[in-house]
Amino acid sequence: MAGITLTENKDIMIANRLDKLIRNTGFNGNISQLLDEIEHNKKFTTEFINTFTTNKTHFFREDFHFVDLRDRVLPMFEKLNSEIKMYCSASSTGEEPYSMAITVKEFSSTLRASIVATDIDTEVLQYAVNGVYRFQKSSKEFPEWIKPQKYFKRRIQKNLIGDEILIKVNDDIKSMVTFGKMNLNDDEYPFDDEFFDVVFCRNVLIYFSSEDQNKILKKLFRLLKIGGTLYLGHSESPQDLINHSKRVGQNIFVKQRNIL
Ligand SMILES: C[S@@+](CC[C@H](N)C(=O)[O-])C[C@H]1O[C@@H](n2cnc3c(N)ncnc32)[C@H](O)[C@@H]1O
Repeated sequence: MAGITLTENKDIMIANRLDKLIRNTGFNGNISQLLDEIEHNKKFTTEFINTFTTNKTHFFREDFHFVDLRDRVLPMFEKLNSEIKMYCSASSTGEEPYSMAITVKEFSSTLRASIVATDIDTEVLQYAVNGVYRFQKSSKEFPEWIKPQKYFKRRIQKNLIGDEILIKVNDDIKSMVTFGKMNLNDDEYPFDDEFFDVVFCRNVLIYFSSEDQNKILKKLFRLLKIGGTLYLGHSESPQDLINHSKRVGQNIFVKQRNIL
């Protein structure tokens, strides 16, 4: 399945999420009956996965990765006048791939770029496709070199508790990103080897066993061109990839050769 590993000290979190799962599915029974249905009858699998994923993310999270993309990677593609193909492998509610797209637009209005963004959780994917965020939360997330008003439209939503400002990603940024469902734990990924110039895999490996992390990293590495860049989250390790890549920054790795 998803391969997400939850440790024993997460008892309360697991109990809360199981309560949420009962509510979300509208299941008429107790938790062990519901878990039985999931395990033996393969029912409610999507709801089960959606409930157990942790989707915390924000715009320009670990912003030094976007600075590296802007200052080191994008100039190479501008010089060659060639399209850059990027992959965001756990895109959650969309802030990460949209930050990648905004970085490209901020760098150059003419550079051609495409971003594929996948996640296992169908709820967050729907949120990402909509591209609508709460202004009050998001506005604090942009670094000073990004002017959000260039990339979002504002609108006011009337709520029972008062007005709320929402921001919606502009169509030119949206059109750079294609969202899809994918499980990083699958044996094969639906992309050709050496297809991408850049792969983001951040703050997702931490949910897997060390062995599964290594397997996922190797599969992602195959998708990356020689000379392409892999960005990992702050507490993630490149494991076996370290011998096949060059570290060029904080959890930034440039692929030197394939793993045979
Ligand atoms: C904590 S969020 C990180 C989002 C983003 N990469 C960031 O750094 O801000 C982790 C995401 O990984 C996704 N995820 C968890 N297990 C997955 C799997 N097996 N395959 C694909 N995505 C998965 C979750 O649904 C969640 O949206």
